[in-house]
Amino acid sequence: MSETNPILRFDGQVALVTGAGRGLGREHALLLASRGCKVVVNDLGAAYDGLGESTGKVADEVVSEIIAAGGEAIANYDSVENGQQVVDAVLAAFGRLDIVVNNAGILTPEVWSELTLESWQRTIDINLTAVFSIMKAAWPILVEQRYGRIIMTASPAMYGAGVAAYAASKAGVVGLANSIQFEAKKLKLDIKCNVLVPSASTRMTTDFGEAINERRVQQGKKAVRPAPEAILDRLSPDKVSAMVVWLAHNDCQSEATIHEAGAGFFAQLHMARSAPLFATEVEKVMGAPMPEHVQQGQGILSDFAGGDMPPSGDGSMGGPSALEQVMKHLKADE
Ligand SMILES: NC(=O)c1ccc[n+]([C@@H]2O[C@H](COP(=O)([O-])OP(=O)(O)OC[C@H]3O[C@@H](n4cnc5c(N)ncnc54)[C@H](O)[C@@H]3O)[C@@H](O)[C@H]2O)c1
Repeated sequence: MSETNPILRFDGQVALVTGAGRGLGREHALLLASRGCKVVVNDLGAAYDGLGESTGKVADEVVSEIIAAGGEAIANYDSVENGQQVVDAVLAAFGRLDIVVNNAGILTPEVWSELTLESWQRTIDINLTAVFSIMKAAWPILVEQRYGRIIMTASPAMYGAGVAAYAASKAGVVGLANSIQFEAKKLKLDIKCNVLVPSASTRMTTDFGEAINERRVQQGKKAVRPAPEAILDRLSPDKVSAMVVWLAHNDCQSEATIHEAGAGFFAQLHMARSAPLFATEVEKVMGAPMPEHVQQGQGILSDFAGGDMPPSGDGSMGGPSALEQVMKHLKADE
């Protein structure tokens, strides 16, 4: 803990946490509220895969818990697809908005070969387009006050998983976060947008596990046994929220970072670029870069220790652009 600010508090600030009626969002909301933040607990009450009727007032239960503990919160039942309605409710209740935790999400269980356009669209609508909708409504407020902390929720599924639409939607969130950060930086605003990659045992993972087992049984395969209680305890969702609360704090200067959190483990990820394979010499002889040169350069292209991070659009984050590297290389050759 820092000496100047031993306890990270949020007095006077307002957070919107979407999908906060249960699971990870609930824990984020409770922890923020326990540190003086006023919280809007948004949750439609959807099934894990976004299908079916809304199942009632889960957000009220979280609000009651926050109030019972001496905090301030209101419930909001709009779908995150209606970003303006959600943000209007935040302003109507508390008159400001400092922190947006985009947590609401659904998980559709289809593997790539089974994926339908309907399932793909439903996943993208909630996990990606709805984040666009929330951020479009919140952005003018954050710009006006020149301050904000935004957390996006991705997933380890984006590294590759049997849930193709979900994985794609979560990878999309990373690109959106990077671009929002890019614009905030260009406008010289104290707005930080970062990405959380959580792992936890929640309603989402349990119901998903059951759906997968049903499918396995239908296919004549054996059902997979649920994880032992000790593993589920280790994966309790409250073990994730410390990262969210840090990323939401004024002291946090991280920009466009991606952090894993879960089971008492935290780590940072970044996009890595390998050592460069220059084709300029080959070009002189052959007139153009050759596929065989790329084939022979596989060792260099796997050398990440000799590489750097790819740059953002204006070069303010990451290493030099490909063009800058080539120009430097050509100059060194002269
Ligand atoms: N649990 C994990 O291991 C895990 C891993 C990676 C990513 N995530 C992501 O973390 C986030 C939270 O997941 P969780 O595990 O707590 O899931 P969960 O299903 O337990 O909770 C998600 C909540 O979002 C709400 N929600 C769904 N659609 C909504 C909508 N249109 N508007 C408002 N609220 C809506 C649901 O009602 C639900 O209460 C999701 O974005 C999920 O994809 C979870």
